[in-house]
Amino acid sequence: MLPYFPFDQQFNHKVGTVPLAENDRLIEVDEHYQVEIALKRQLLTELPTYYYQTLPGHQIAHWEVVETVLTNLARFMPNQFALRKEGNNWHWQNHLLNEETTFTFGDKTTLPVDPLDWAGRQIQEDLILLAGNEATLVSGQLCFGNGWCLDEKMGLPFWQIHTPIVPILEPMMRSAQKLMERLPVGRPVGRMNWSVKVTDQLDMTSRHTPALDQLLANHLPYLTPEAIGDYLYIRIERQTLTRLPRSGAILFGIHTYQNLLANEVIERPACADQLARVFITTPPAMLAYKGMDHFMPALFAYLKECNHS
Ligand code: HEM
Repeated sequence: MLPYFPFDQQFNHKVGTVPLAENDRLIEVDEHYQVEIALKRQLLTELPTYYYQTLPGHQIAHWEVVETVLTNLARFMPNQFALRKEGNNWHWQNHLLNEETTFTFGDKTTLPVDPLDWAGRQIQEDLILLAGNEATLVSGQLCFGNGWCLDEKMGLPFWQIHTPIVPILEPMMRSAQKLMERLPVGRPVGRMNWSVKVTDQLDMTSRHTPALDQLLANHLPYLTPEAIGDYLYIRIERQTLTRLPRSGAILFGIHTYQNLLANEVIERPACADQLARVFITTPPAMLAYKGMDHFMPALFAYLKECNHS
């Protein structure tokens, strides 16, 4: 079952951010940790400059990300992770991967890769850094992106990053822009995003878009009301936004979770009803943007049938 289910009575036109409480984790580790970290590291080895990029001049923020990620893991999962600090000499133990790293905080030559890149290799989340008044994308490690990639968005401000979305959800994106400008230090927030996919492939960065479009086209004849639940996956992103205290940059973390639709329907009572309510109130342009318009009639028929049975 998905750990979060961002579907209720209707499509949410609001930004949908909620404050993270003192005891909420910024970073989440689940049963897919080892598999997903291995996949991430493989992608970063194969195409390092596609999955990790940075503009010059953001070292302070990178080290703040290292500090934020390691402190959070060690605080919430002390049996799995440990951080020992002696001045700037830091010792990191990752028991889940059986790895130990000693480095000098602030000295990037003591880590095998850039600090932000290294921090991202410890966790399932994608990590994006936005800096300046317009929240410009300045650095990122994005392995599990949903239909976008760093090549397309590096150096763009928040507003331009969302060019395809603004005409569809302009009021939401205006509020989001304000939130980016005003997010205070020490008050991280979280929000959920959702989509419905024909595969549970984690890496859906843009280089895979033609193949994914083809996969959907090939599957369309099989997406009948009877079978569709066994073909589609609900894919959700838990997104967090944290203002970093020294650099003032914003850390945007994205943790992707997914589950087969038929399994979610079995495991979660009222799931089919809630999905149907949200999908029917989602602006058609948004369904088209999410690539769901091709199979909506069959999906509605399936969800209706689930409600009756
Ligand atoms: C409160 C903050 C945010 C809100 C309300 C928001 C909202 C959205 C929405 C509604 C979409 C359409 C995708 C969908 O629903 O399936 C989207 C896509 C996207 N968002 Fe955000 N977003 C936020 C923060 C961010 C941040 C910080 C980034 C940083 C890079 C980002 C990058 C993107 C990208 C790259 C896309 C895909 C755009 C494309 O297709 O070209 N978002 N966002």
